[in-house]
Amino acid sequence: ARQDYIRNFSIIAHIDHGKSTLADRLIESTGMLTKREMEQQVLDSMDLEKERGITIKLKAVRLIYQAQDGHEYTFNLIDTPGHVDFSYEVSRSMAACEGALLVVDATQGVEAQTLANVYLALDEDLEILPILNKIDLPSQRCDEVVQEIEDIIGLPAADAPRVSAKTGLNIDQVLEAIVRDIPAPNGDEDAPLKALIFDSNYDSYKGVICYVRIFDGQVKVGDTIQMMNTKKSFEVVEVGVNANGHIPLDQLRAGDVGYITASIKEVRDAQVGDTITLKNRPTDKPLKGYKKVSPMVYCGIYPAEGEEYTEIRDALEKLKVNDAALDFEAETSAALGFGFRCGFLGLLHMEIIQERLEREFDLNLITTTPSVIYHVMTTDHELLEIQNPSNLPDPSEIEYMEEPIVRAEIMTPTDYVGAIMELCQNRRGVFIDMQYLEETRAQITYDLPLNEVIYDFFDALKSKTRGYASFDYDLKGYQQSDLVKMDILINQQVVDAFSLIVHRDKAYERGRKICERLTDAIPRHQFAVPIQAAIGSKIIARETIRALRKDVLSKCYGGDISRKKKLLEKQKEGKKRMRSIGNVDIPQEAFLSVLKYD
Ligand code: GTP
Repeated sequence: ARQDYIRNFSIIAHIDHGKSTLADRLIESTGMLTKREMEQQVLDSMDLEKERGITIKLKAVRLIYQAQDGHEYTFNLIDTPGHVDFSYEVSRSMAACEGALLVVDATQGVEAQTLANVYLALDEDLEILPILNKIDLPSQRCDEVVQEIEDIIGLPAADAPRVSAKTGLNIDQVLEAIVRDIPAPNGDEDAPLKALIFDSNYDSYKGVICYVRIFDGQVKVGDTIQMMNTKKSFEVVEVGVNANGHIPLDQLRAGDVGYITASIKEVRDAQVGDTITLKNRPTDKPLKGYKKVSPMVYCGIYPAEGEEYTEIRDALEKLKVNDAALDFEAETSAALGFGFRCGFLGLLHMEIIQERLEREFDLNLITTTPSVIYHVMTTDHELLEIQNPSNLPDPSEIEYMEEPIVRAEIMTPTDYVGAIMELCQNRRGVFIDMQYLEETRAQITYDLPLNEVIYDFFDALKSKTRGYASFDYDLKGYQQSDLVKMDILINQQVVDAFSLIVHRDKAYERGRKICERLTDAIPRHQFAVPIQAAIGSKIIARETIRALRKDVLSKCYGGDISRKKKLLEKQKEGKKRMRSIGNVDIPQEAFLSVLKYD
């Protein structure tokens, strides 16, 4: 049957194990694109992603493969992001597949996100095909890594292809393994239409483009489709597949992965995870939906000096179009004026949105100290959810507070176990378990307050383990905790954008560090600027930025003119992202410096 020659799969991996590189090789070896087109990586098309080396938005691509059995196969490769912040997108794309290629770096072995991704794939009942990558590197230890895959994950891996995605070595084995081991789809072409939207984006000509996997039935131009969740109906304008651009087709049928456009103007009418059916011949039940994703980390986003509030709103609306996890609403800050409270899946998600706003929309932003969602029980027995420290009720009205706790799995070479335990202990972690995966690798489990994880935990972990440890976490629940609100005063004035909620035992240390950092980050003014940390009316730390005595240029007294120019340029640059609060100019770095722990 037709579907016997279709394979729908994604590639999963720990970050940097070579997922995108392997995808490129598969695209190249199926001959769909020319060498020249390959020069621009196809799957990682966003500039930002390339620089960060992280695949953010998933995309599907169709490949044609002439197998050794003489048949022509259609491969639909669905790209997935690898980072823990994006696991919801991973499961979205997996639901559209029958199988997953599990790329494991043969020099690194199984890591935290390798395992996390495997669990997601197992949840979706995917056939998992291990692949050992980077065998061109002399430090590869394939045999040990095979053992790890078998012991830790429990997948047979003795016959797993051993490849170099970089050089292309043994890629043919991967292609044949896809044909041989990944099950073909087996939907019912004659049943009513049942299609899953696994991604969407907005095109100014075509409206919303829905990326779909057809499970049952067929869809063609002119059909009236209905979204089962929102109940909205649309007439199909175009169907097709993604293969180096959109290729329109007459129809899509059970087993296919492709796109549908239907003059859909509002993105919320084509929600990712919704099931599409035909209006006059609907299927009886929608597909199992995705788990709803909710933001875990919030921060304020405000215009820097001279930026427009409305431009930020327009940009956030555009980004939200294909980022269901991004959440925002208007808020005002006493210090910063009108802006937005934005919710993110995690810190990386937050940084990426920030960068996209700045680069793609050319905006200058100020972001405030990130916060998690706290539960506050008031003395009136009302339960509040607080994601902005400024909204915390007066301490006299608080019965108790709870904070989110995550269960963190850390994988590491045994050499670093001590350093990691010290780090976790420092961050109020509670030790749960440690297991030796093999002689030289261990898996450590800790419960950690999310509030501690969002302050550069990841960076600290990487630097303490020279990049060797990997980390993944899941929200476990809420726990009562002795928390206080800490305010930062600049020139005697509370700057609400800096306020944060901290554990009481950590307040002094944090307060002192923040004051020190702000002293470094805020330029000197004509007058002395005191920086203070306070809990309520009690000052717990203080630093002073000394007044500027002389003109900066006097530093270059007698110096050559180009040096002066450089200095002025530098000052101008530094000005770009400033906000003056009271009469103190605060550069954006100052807002970020509050985040850094050590
Ligand atoms: P994310 O998209 O960030 O999740 O990473 P990824 O898993 O897609 O990894 P990517 O393909 O970007 O590869 C990470 C790095 O490993 C890049 O610098 C690649 O050039 C390199 N790399 C990938 N495959 C190989 C390989 O077979 N051999 C060698 N030596 N390097 C490789």
